[in-house]
Amino acid sequence: MAITHTHDVLIIGGGAAGLSLALRLPDSVRVAILNKGPAKDGSTFYAQGGISSVLNLRDSFEAHIDDTLRAGAGLCHEDAVRFTVEHGPDNIRWLQQLGVPFSSEPGDNGERRLHLTREGGHSHRRIVHAADATGKALSDTLLNHVKHSSNIEFFEQHIVVDLITTEKLGHSKQGNRCIGAYVLNKASGHIETFRARQVVLATGGASKVYLYTSNPDGATGDGIAMAWRAGCRVANMEFNQFHPTCLYHPDAKSFLISEAVRGEGGKLLLPDGEPFMQRFDERAELAPRDIVARAIDHEMKRLGAPCVYLDISHRSAAFIASHFPTIHARCLEFGIDMTKEPIPVVPAAHYTCGGVITDLNGQTDISGLYAIGETAHTGLHGANRMASNSLLECLVFAESASKQIQHQLTQAVDEIDIPAWDESRVTDSDEEVVVSHNWDELRRFMWDYVGIVRTNKRLERAMRRIQLLSHEINEYYSNFRITNDLLELRNLAQVAELIVRCAMERKESRGLHFSLDYPAVKDNQPGKDTVLAPHAKKRKLIKVVN
Ligand code: FAD
Ligand code: SIN
Repeated sequence: MAITHTHDVLIIGGGAAGLSLALRLPDSVRVAILNKGPAKDGSTFYAQGGISSVLNLRDSFEAHIDDTLRAGAGLCHEDAVRFTVEHGPDNIRWLQQLGVPFSSEPGDNGERRLHLTREGGHSHRRIVHAADATGKALSDTLLNHVKHSSNIEFFEQHIVVDLITTEKLGHSKQGNRCIGAYVLNKASGHIETFRARQVVLATGGASKVYLYTSNPDGATGDGIAMAWRAGCRVANMEFNQFHPTCLYHPDAKSFLISEAVRGEGGKLLLPDGEPFMQRFDERAELAPRDIVARAIDHEMKRLGAPCVYLDISHRSAAFIASHFPTIHARCLEFGIDMTKEPIPVVPAAHYTCGGVITDLNGQTDISGLYAIGETAHTGLHGANRMASNSLLECLVFAESASKQIQHQLTQAVDEIDIPAWDESRVTDSDEEVVVSHNWDELRRFMWDYVGIVRTNKRLERAMRRIQLLSHEINEYYSNFRITNDLLELRNLAQVAELIVRCAMERKESRGLHFSLDYPAVKDNQPGKDTVLAPHAKKRKLIKVVN
């Protein structure tokens, strides 16, 4: 018997964006949150540095806006930047009311005030944080509130296969509307139907498309791929951010060394101990990430070095242990004592600046479908996200989407029958190795050909391979019972194609996109977004049979 769940709002993703949105909705709204893994499996849990917001009298909204626009290299949408920055302080206060244990320090009159740290691109100290484990503090608090909310049901180990839209069901006379999702319950192995009046993609980024990444395993761009298949436009996928400093160690799985280490005085050094960032930018270690990552990549290639070094050992051991307890402990596990010696570091894929196009309420091109958090393209980040603006965006757009959703829930809509998923024509896979092999191959050639430095030839090579893999993956998807890995691979291949297509369209170097064939910024400042629109004919639901 096929299972159908019915809610007012279906939120796909339980990170900062999804959880905040759920908590912003009133108790009268019935909400489901889906997580494809256990709770806290998204990037949010791993966030280190903090959340940017103007909270110091010497700082100003204008300064935060200017810094963001400058880091975004002429592609930020100024309305989105202003909207996000101006809603920052209220969102931080909301988190404080919920009980997020931010780090504090004594103020001038002996009171406790938030400790603000500094990161690249920011002209002021404006990063609110919980030591170096801000994401854990945030996730723990939000999840605790969600678990005590009687109107919110939280489903772990439920991975969405695809969105259900009126167009896919052949009922699109009044326009395309999202009415739910087909979801693989990983415990039972069956596909269930989640029906909802409003659906929200809060599925995080896609950095797992690269071999080396700071992101957890689930960052496979599912929301972007699903929205694209459903008919939404996406933008600026060529701007994948590489974080300059991930721990270089064979067993460390690209563990992040927070930018706040540089914010508190950490210096980048070549293997012979020479500092080098001043040669690339007057802001040196605190230049925006695209500049620092490219400088490191350049020096590693020039010297044939496997890594560079980040040194903060000139600060006291007590300072380091209290500001960076997580990083300190993790480095010690690998035999590196950051209070005494430099940390070996390399860049790794970190953040997806592009995504599903939305307005300032998180509304996508499809009615009833929203995208918030890393999966969305709101116009905030432009060609390069400034540090700690991401969690801020999650919070601000969760709040605005919640208002829009409440308004939409008051409107009447036609009920449409949703057919159950049909698995009668598929069998169990005979060769799982196809999936694991294609995962590895895709991530390796994306790293080699579509990484920090690109060329036309490398992009063409990548595209040929993506087309081959996509053909194989689609065949596999049509014939065999779906699994978590197959779904993620299918989405990764889709996102890889979108990244390469956007990169091919951008005939210049700007922000995070650097091409040896077009090494300069085009002189058409402020520049244009790369917008892709899906082909209407390709939008079909593959396996469902009426
Ligand atoms: P996520 O937190 O990634 O959550 C995505 C959720 O979607 C998960 O729950 C996942 O299970 C679910 N999901 C995905 N696909 C499916 C599917 N098909 N079906 C069901 N569920 C699905 N940003 C900052 O601003 N400050 C920082 O200090 C900072 N530090 C960072 C450190 C690290 C190591 C990393 C990786 C990122 C950091 N970032 C930071 C970026 C920031 O953490 C992320 O951009 C942000 O947390 C994204 O939140 P989100 O809610 O959009 O998605
Ligand atoms: C970091 O702590 O360096 C990550 C901050 C971010 O990605 O915004």
